[in-house]
Amino acid sequence: MAERLATRYRTALVTGASTGLGRAFATMLLSEGVAVWGTSREAGRLGELGRAHPGAFHPVVMELGDADAVGRGFREAEQAAGGFDLVVNNAGYGVFGTFAEVDFSVWREQMNVMLVNTALVSHLALPGLKTRGRGALVNVSSLAAEFPLPFQSAYNMAKAGLTALSESLMIECAGTGVAVIDLRPGDFRTDFEGAVRRPPAGQGDARLPRVWAAFEKMMHGGPPPAAAAEALRQALQRGKSGTVRCGRFFQAVIAPLLARFGSLPLKRRIQAGYFDLD
Ligand SMILES: NC(=O)c1ccc[n+]([C@@H]2O[C@H](COP(=O)([O-])OP(=O)(O)OC[C@H]3O[C@@H](n4cnc5c(N)ncnc54)[C@H](OP(=O)(O)O)[C@@H]3O)[C@@H](O)[C@H]2O)c1
Repeated sequence: MAERLATRYRTALVTGASTGLGRAFATMLLSEGVAVWGTSREAGRLGELGRAHPGAFHPVVMELGDADAVGRGFREAEQAAGGFDLVVNNAGYGVFGTFAEVDFSVWREQMNVMLVNTALVSHLALPGLKTRGRGALVNVSSLAAEFPLPFQSAYNMAKAGLTALSESLMIECAGTGVAVIDLRPGDFRTDFEGAVRRPPAGQGDARLPRVWAAFEKMMHGGPPPAAAAEALRQALQRGKSGTVRCGRFFQAVIAPLLARFGSLPLKRRIQAGYFDLD
């Protein structure tokens, strides 16, 4: 029988634990006996997890757009936990719109939340992990790092950048006992799509409604978040650095294989068809 994750990871920080994938990750870790510090921008959104797991789940209020708040929140939580054996950078959101038409401050904010300050959490977490010589850093990227989503340019940039950070850290952490996992989910049924910021109906590029409808259909057809949590559980059980793709078989296995062995123009054509952009 596989040993419980708690034998390897005593404490964990999960950003964006209030809902969706982050909540499923937190729930899975708690069920494996790991004490979890989970973040949200609003304490109230973490109340249910706290009530369901008294003494094991610890709410942390953190706005990832605010670097000072991230530093403060991380250090306080780390001190209360006595150090983290596992850090899961999960929080994120989408912005949908044409690159040139959406105000640049919106793109900048998304990059700040999902790349710069997410990298800051990794930067804060690694010294403790390396000192203990064990544990894992998980960066939740996306298959969008390989297959960019149309009209979600900063999301694609942030995820590709986060994947590049994970790749860099895998090299740096080799031999330290710390695993770095680049987790790339495909589409999962979460609140993600409901939280996407997008232009009011009737505004912007005429193709937006078509592409949005295709995106919505893909999100609705995705597996439940518990399936991503199971992929993470297995990766943590292995305890090795690497890339973990999860989601529907076509997205997580076939498409990356086709992209690897096919041509780039073919990949772009298939992607355009997928989003009704032909
Ligand atoms: N669902 C998918 O199909 C899918 C696919 C690939 C990758 N992903 C990635 O998986 C991660 C989780 O997505 P999800 O699908 O679970 O979305 P979700 O259900 O909308 O959850 C997003 C989480 O991120 C937190 N968050 C959002 N903006 C934040 C900010 N500015 N500061 C701090 N926290 C913030 C939210 O916390 P509060 O609102 O409570 O503050 C929430 O807990 C994201 O990084 C996403 O890009 C998702």
